[in-house]
Formats: sequence, structure tokens, C-alpha cells
Amino acid sequence: MSKGLQVAIDGPASAGKSTVAKLVAKRFNYIYCDTGAMYRAVTLAVLNQGIDLNDDAKIAEVARQIKINFKPGETEQRVFLNGQEVTHDIRLPKVARNVSAIAAIPAVREEMTQQQRKIAADGGIVMDGRDIGTTVLPDAPVKIFMVASAHERARRRYVENKAKGINTTSLEELQQAIELRDKKDSTRKISPLTQAHDAIKLDTTNLTIDEVVDAISKIIKKHEMN
Ligand code: CDP
Ligand code: CDP
Repeated sequence: MSKGLQVAIDGPASAGKSTVAKLVAKRFNYIYCDTGAMYRAVTLAVLNQGIDLNDDAKIAEVARQIKINFKPGETEQRVFLNGQEVTHDIRLPKVARNVSAIAAIPAVREEMTQQQRKIAADGGIVMDGRDIGTTVLPDAPVKIFMVASAHERARRRYVENKAKGINTTSLEELQQAIELRDKKDSTRKISPLTQAHDAIKLDTTNLTIDEVVDAISKIIKKHEMN
């Protein structure tokens, strides 16, 4: 029996991708892969090793050498970098500030894309990121492009940071940082954040998490029957 479909979810920061992707994966007994966490882990490794942020070759070497693993946790997916847990450290503002520049380095993207394709090879996977439907899994039968207003996305991240006890800036500053990252991600030369021509756009601004999960589940079921 087939293990299931490849489901690609892309969109800007804090649109709800990972929250929804995790729940959809659970519902269908699929694997979940957070590709943003992979770029964040590379960024953390580069920062921890004190590597010059302009040295693309050294940064690419780090991307090739580090080992990134995921393990299911009670409430969130746990992320490990060379065997050490970095679930929370990859969410630090210093990582958020630098991740888009590091994710724009072609050799870093090449390495991550290869790793992501291997993870998704057998299907039965929900993968979220920026370029999954366009570059990583262009043949995925289900592609969702998830959006929400910048204000709503900043509000969600603000509430989430507070709840997790993560040091946060003001709501206005958070919105500016998110918009800046969206701009960098959408305008980079390689694999920019864009909607794949065959992706379904889902605006979650006024939707609850359950409503978004239900909407995507319906789409998957329709494809599973084909
Ligand atoms: O969770 P949040 O929306 O803040 O971002 P993320 O999904 O953790 O991704 C962090 C950053 O990694 C993004 O802003 C992109 O610069 C980069 N990224 C990417 O370039 N390609 C992906 N497939 C996923 C993330
Ligand atoms: O992965 P991405 O950056 O796109 O977003 P996320 O980390 O899944 O969602 C950011 C925050 O928005 C989380 O705290 C979610 O609980 C919340 N959220 C929401 O309030 N309503 C939705 N429809 C989706 C997410």
C-alpha cells in the first residue's frame, strides 16, 4: 500500500504553516518536515561557530557537515543539531535576523533541497517552507500557498512568543521584522517565496487553526481518491 501523498505547504512567516502542517500530518499519519527549522539550524551553527557571515563558502561547508534531526515531542517537534537539542535556540531573534541571508546562499539551498527530497522520497509527508511546491517537490499533488495579513501574522507570533516565554520585541517591531524577512525571501534570486502555478491559495487571516486543517484535509482526501 502506498504511504501517502506529498503535501507541500508554502507561505510567508507566521501564516500558520507549521502548526497546521503538524496537525494535518497527524490526521493522515504522515511525516511532518519543517524545512524552515533546517535553515534555522544551519544559521545557528554558523553563528555558534563564529563564522564570517560574508563567507559563503565556509557557510556552505557548515550546511554540508552538520547533522539535523527531528524527533516528535509532547507539544512540538524537537530539533537536534549534531545531537544537541536546539528546538528553542533556533527561534532566537539573532537566528531570525540572519536566516534569510544564509538561506539565500545557493550552495546552502542545494544541500538543504537534496536532504529534503530524500526525506520526502517515499511520500506520506507534509513539508512546509518557502519553495517546497516550486522547487523541492514540484510534482507534489497537493500544494497549498498559505497567507495571512502581516498584522495578523505579527499578532500571532507575538502571542506565541509571550506564551512560550521567548523574549519578544514590541508588536510593531515584530511586524517590521516579519515584513523585512518576507521581502528578503520573496526577492532573492534562487527559489524565492512565490506561489506555484498549481498551488491553492489559502488566506488564514480570519480562519481558526481547525478550519485551516479541515480545508487542507478535504483537498488531500480528494487527491487520495484519484
Ligand atoms: O516559522 P517562520 O515562518 O518564522 O520561518 P521558518 O519557516 O522557520 O523559516 C525561516 C527562514 O528560513 C525563512 O524566513 C526563509 O528565509 C528560510 N526558508 C527558506 O528559505 N526556504 C524554506 N523552504 C524554508 C525556510
Ligand atoms: O509556520 P509559520 O511560521 O507559517 O506559522 P506557525 O508557527 O504555524 O503559526 C504562528 C502562530 O500562529 C502559532 O502560534 C499558531 O498557533 C498561530 N495560528 C493561529 O493563531 N491561527 C491560525 N489559523 C494559524 C496559526
